[in-house]
Amino acid sequence: MPLTLNEVSHRYGPGLPWVARRVSLEIADGETVALMGPSGSGKTTLLSILGLLTRPTEGHVLVDGRPTVGDRAAVALRASLFSWVFQTANALPRRSALDNAALPLLVRGVDRPTASRIAAAELRRLGVSHLAARPARLLSGGELQRVCIGRALAAAPRWILADEPTGQLDHRSTAAAADALFLGRPIGTGVIVATHDPDLAARCERVFRLSDGCLTGEARP
Ligand SMILES: Nc1ncnc2c1ncn2[C@@H]1O[C@H](COP(=O)(O)OP(=O)(O)O)[C@@H](O)[C@H]1O
Ligand SMILES: [Mg+2]
Repeated sequence: MPLTLNEVSHRYGPGLPWVARRVSLEIADGETVALMGPSGSGKTTLLSILGLLTRPTEGHVLVDGRPTVGDRAAVALRASLFSWVFQTANALPRRSALDNAALPLLVRGVDRPTASRIAAAELRRLGVSHLAARPARLLSGGELQRVCIGRALAAAPRWILADEPTGQLDHRSTAAAADALFLGRPIGTGVIVATHDPDLAARCERVFRLSDGCLTGEARP
C-alpha cells in the first residue's frame, strides 16, 4: 500500500524556479526513508508534497495506487496517514506534555480518558513520563522534541514525516530523539525524514539524495 510520486515537479509560482524536477519514487507501508541534500535542495518541499500539504505543479501523488486530487479528499487522507515532526518542536506552551501528546487523538474524536491513556503510554515508552504533567514551555528542546515524537506516534499514522527533527538538538538529545522516531516500527509506522544527520539517515532502509530539486541517487545504507 505505497505512497507514490509520479513525475512530480513543483514551483511556488509561475516564473519562479522549479524546486522539484520530475521526481518519481515509491515508498512502501512501514518503510523508513531519509531525504538528504544541501539546504535549498527541495527536501521540505518534497516532504510537504508527500504529506499532501502541497499539491505539485505537475505530476501525481498516489496513495495505494489511487490519485489524491481534490482538496477535500486530500484533507481527510492526510489526517489519517501522516503525523508531522518539525525541526523546532511545536507544542501548546501552557498545556502539559501529556495534553499535547493527546491532542491529535482528541481532535480525531477519541474520548479524553482513552486519549490520555494512549498518550501516557507513548511518553512512558519514550522515557519522558516524569515530564507528563509539566507545561510544554518548561521543557528543554530535547525533552520537547521527544514529547512531539510521542504525540506523532500516539496518533498511529502510517508514516511519520519529520523535517530535520534533530537539527536543533545537542548530541545526546539527538540520539534520544532518533531512537524515539523509530519506535513505531514494530507496529508498521513508516518514517520519512529530511535530515542532514548521516547517523539518522543510516538508520533508514533507504536514503534518497536531492540536488536542486532532482533526485540524484538512492542508497541503501
Ligand atoms: N513558499 C515558498 N515560496 C517560494 N519559494 C520557496 C518557498 N518555499 C521554499 N521555496 C524555495 O524552494 C527551494 C527549496 O526549498 P526547500 O524545499 O525548503 O529546501 P530544503 O528543505 O532542502 O532546504 C528553495 O530555493 C526555497 O527558497
Ligand atoms: Mg527544509
